[in-house]
Amino acid sequence: MSKLEGKPATLAAQAMGWVDPSTQAVIPPIHTATTFIRDPDNQYRAGRSYARADNPTFDHAEALLAALEGGVACLSFASGMAAATTVFQALAPGDHVIAPQVMYWGLRNWLTTFGREHGLAVDLVDAADLDAIAAAVRPGRTKLVWIETPANPTWAITDIAAAAKLAHDAGALLAVDNTVATPLLTRPLALGADLVMHSATKYLNGHSDVVAGALVTTRQDALWQRIETLRHAGGAILGPFEAWLLLRGMRTLHLRVERACRTAAMLAQRLSTHRAVAAVLYPGLPDHPGHAVAARQMQGGFGGMLSIRVAGGEQAAIATAARVRVWKRATSLGGVESLIEHRASVEGPGSPAPPDLLRLSVGIEDPDDLLADLDQALGA
Ligand SMILES: Cc1ncc(COP(=O)(O)O)c(C=O)c1O
Repeated sequence: MSKLEGKPATLAAQAMGWVDPSTQAVIPPIHTATTFIRDPDNQYRAGRSYARADNPTFDHAEALLAALEGGVACLSFASGMAAATTVFQALAPGDHVIAPQVMYWGLRNWLTTFGREHGLAVDLVDAADLDAIAAAVRPGRTKLVWIETPANPTWAITDIAAAAKLAHDAGALLAVDNTVATPLLTRPLALGADLVMHSATKYLNGHSDVVAGALVTTRQDALWQRIETLRHAGGAILGPFEAWLLLRGMRTLHLRVERACRTAAMLAQRLSTHRAVAAVLYPGLPDHPGHAVAARQMQGGFGGMLSIRVAGGEQAAIATAARVRVWKRATSLGGVESLIEHRASVEGPGSPAPPDLLRLSVGIEDPDDLLADLDQALGA
């Protein structure tokens, strides 16, 4: 893999500057082979044997994401959930882990069901509150502190550097779900985190046409080896076509994220004075509880995700989502098209999402069209 030097936009646009040595093609091929030739003396000197372990098509997307995150290695997975749950499965029964109360609900549910069945002692805390993390860590017993920042769906912010210190002082690692911030806005490893996880389904791919996940590490240590072995053994790999599409999507990451951040900031500001909106949750607004920390640890914007609490309550929120014409009423985030959803309906009973909350994933459409559509949907 080539070692293109440069800023993130250069690395992304050129996908690390890779050129096919045999054809001079500027776009890598898709390798569909499931198996690779053994040497006559029974060795695999070319380094590959079978495609459940790895595939040459993964290399490019993994190398680009490792470079953008400033890590030493990256592993792609079949989904964000496959990436995240592999980290927890690599821990041992009896290990204590801390995770946020406010986080991607699918992973929270997995932790409190399968994670506990696997034998993990799981504590959910208010991860925006460092004192709550400090009170929950058990020195010598806590193995992993997991955070998500900004966190679904209130965009609560955790101070990554401070959380890393709390984890490390207790002998634990810090893992950060960096899906929403992307490496363009936040680089958790440079702030002290040990692992970064992505639902690459979101901004990294960016076109709502690939389900993918990834982990990036600061060290290829025993835990990383276990994660790699679990991916190989369990087979939670990305298909070669999906890996190729992911790399293609990542080439425009910087343009999409920049545009989404700018539009989200405008919408947050304009909606915060709308008479049908009770509150806007966006870390870029000075009244967001995480604003000061976000301003310190996010560069270039506060992300493309925001939520609004609709003044008329739950039914008014659901009715607002029903009236949109430009926004798409759908789950997920980070695509080029703007999405709106009533989050409590998605998360179900026990969700910390307020019932009047609509989650907005801002795409790259004309900002005025997005604002006008929300205005008519809220105002009817
Ligand atoms: C922040 C975050 N993390 C993880 C996931 C899970 O990723 P995937 O759907 O790719 O499995 C999601 C999916 O919505 C997410 O939003």
